[in-house]
Amino acid sequence: QKPVRIAPSILSADFARLGEEVRAIDQAGADWIHVDVMDGHFVPNITIGPGVVKALRPHTSKPFDVHLMISPVDDFLAAFAEAGADIITVHPEAGPHLHRTIQRIKALGKKAGVSLNPATPAKMLDYVLEEVDLVLVMSVNPGFGGQSFIESQLRKIEAVRKQIDKAGLAVDIEVDGGIDAGNCQRAIDSGADVLVAGTATFRGGPTQYAANISGLRGR
Ligand code: DX5
Ligand code: ZN
Repeated sequence: QKPVRIAPSILSADFARLGEEVRAIDQAGADWIHVDVMDGHFVPNITIGPGVVKALRPHTSKPFDVHLMISPVDDFLAAFAEAGADIITVHPEAGPHLHRTIQRIKALGKKAGVSLNPATPAKMLDYVLEEVDLVLVMSVNPGFGGQSFIESQLRKIEAVRKQIDKAGLAVDIEVDGGIDAGNCQRAIDSGADVLVAGTATFRGGPTQYAANISGLRGR
């Protein structure tokens, strides 16, 4: 198994100093920068749009992992692609035609991800798995940082891992929500390739980021 990659979620950063925060997590060893985009409609919170992604782009060369929690999503894909997203992840519930949405992301030259809410079954992937680069398993209900990890999602990670391996695909599994130093190893053992962490990355302030990130890489 490859070493796990860590994708700090800037949702837990200081929004008044977002550029500096992105530089700090880059230097602290972040593999990807996870950007949570919320619209107050698909999820009960509002965060940032493509303008902020574009403003942050010069601050790091690490991949921007853009998690879109917006619906309908299709009309915003080009704006996030142009703003500098590298990976664009959508929820199946965020539009009527998931397969078409994935094709659109790929036509924009970006990697495509599909995100499964805690109640959304892995089965949702059956006819799109070979089209995607990433499956994002939500281990909290999307909308807020700082929630507790939902243990049942470990089974979903295992199921998705089996499905990917059985098909011989190179799709990454990313886990998002409530990840900390106490549960990261279980997520890794279940088959996760990338861990998102907001609270656990930013806790304690900039002097702690490097230790926080390395503490999420497991044993
Ligand atoms: C939740 C977001 C997550 C979340 C992670 O809707 O998708 O990325 O902010 O934050 P923590 O690690 O604090 O659960
Ligand atoms: Zn996220």
